[in-house]
Amino acid sequence: MRLLLIGGTWFLGRVLAESALQRGWSVTCFNRGKTGRDVPGVRSIRGDRFDPASLDALAAQGGWDAVIDTSVYEPPEAASMAQALRSVAARYALVSTVSAYRHWPEQPCEEASPLWPSRPDARESDPDVQALPRPFRYGTLKSGCEQAVLDVFGDDTLIVRPGVILGPHEYVGRLQALLRRAKRGGQILAAGSPDQPIQPVDVRDLAAFLLDQLATGRTGTYNITAPSGHATYGDLLTGCVTAVGADAELVWVDAQWLLDQGVKEWTQLPLWRTPQGTWRVDSRKAQQAGLRCRPLTETIIDTWRALQAEPLVDHERQREHGLPAEQERELLQAWQAASGASVC
Ligand SMILES: NC(=O)c1ccc[n+]([C@@H]2O[C@H](COP(=O)([O-])OP(=O)(O)OC[C@H]3O[C@@H](n4cnc5c(N)ncnc54)[C@H](OP(=O)(O)O)[C@@H]3O)[C@@H](O)[C@H]2O)c1
Repeated sequence: MRLLLIGGTWFLGRVLAESALQRGWSVTCFNRGKTGRDVPGVRSIRGDRFDPASLDALAAQGGWDAVIDTSVYEPPEAASMAQALRSVAARYALVSTVSAYRHWPEQPCEEASPLWPSRPDARESDPDVQALPRPFRYGTLKSGCEQAVLDVFGDDTLIVRPGVILGPHEYVGRLQALLRRAKRGGQILAAGSPDQPIQPVDVRDLAAFLLDQLATGRTGTYNITAPSGHATYGDLLTGCVTAVGADAELVWVDAQWLLDQGVKEWTQLPLWRTPQGTWRVDSRKAQQAGLRCRPLTETIIDTWRALQAEPLVDHERQREHGLPAEQERELLQAWQAASGASVC
């Protein structure tokens, strides 16, 4: 297989490059060479996807059996890349997101659920996109990216819509924030219920699924999450404490009480999210097509190892994650006063 990766150096792209090389595939990576390093063994083509001349130069170095576009965020760049590659790539795989669903996370979703309305020319700066609350802009634009690629590649398009992706080198830093907090030990504020099901997918399992689909020539659209019942929020936090070998105690605090205190779900307390559809993403179609999800403990342990071996790619969103130590202490004391829980 001759594979072209748009990007290929941070997280999902990096794992795709490593995994495809392990399969003996010929792998080309197109990126600016600005923020990450190419995986050894790939053929590297430098260029900026915003620059039409770079796209012409890229296409001139084809062809490929498949392209995977991991990291496009605005529809015009999805459209221009797809148009540039249509004559030199047989299939186009686009990494979208469950955020593309109009009613997620408030409601459960399956592949047929409605997407955010969008346009192939939509930009984040457009007034109609700016009018949306910030978290919904991302999904609207990704929905437009899907449409832009489908307009060009039609039935030769593979779209994956992952929920939250975890694993080594994840640069948003969700699991990393939990691991660092666990390492500090002591009483750890744990939100809601330990029995809350969660569905994060390991980046390596997502990559394997994508490559398997391309190898067998399958196209179509797939939600990508761990199956319902795969793990709980309690498994995640306990797994972090165990992985770092900390002397720590989880103090479970009522979800509504935390929201009333203004604690930011999803960021200050990563992977804690209360809308009822958050962890009800139907990914049975992908599982039937071969998605296999490793145990969450493996993801946690490997992420902790990677974090100690190598710094993360610097990303602005890392700063959003985690609760400042002082705020956590104050919240635990206030929770003790409100509930009678035993907090040191
Ligand atoms: N994290 C999650 O939980 C989650 C959940 C659902 C979906 N997703 C989706 O998963 C994907 C993650 O992708 P990733 O960031 O890990 O991909 P990646 O391919 O590993 O990294 C991004 C690449 O894009 C390159 N790049 C950036 N700007 C560029 C430009 N103007 N021209 C050419 N190349 C450029 C970067 O290199 P240079 O800077 O050197 O150019 C880098 O190689 C995203 O599509 C995201 O929406 C993530």
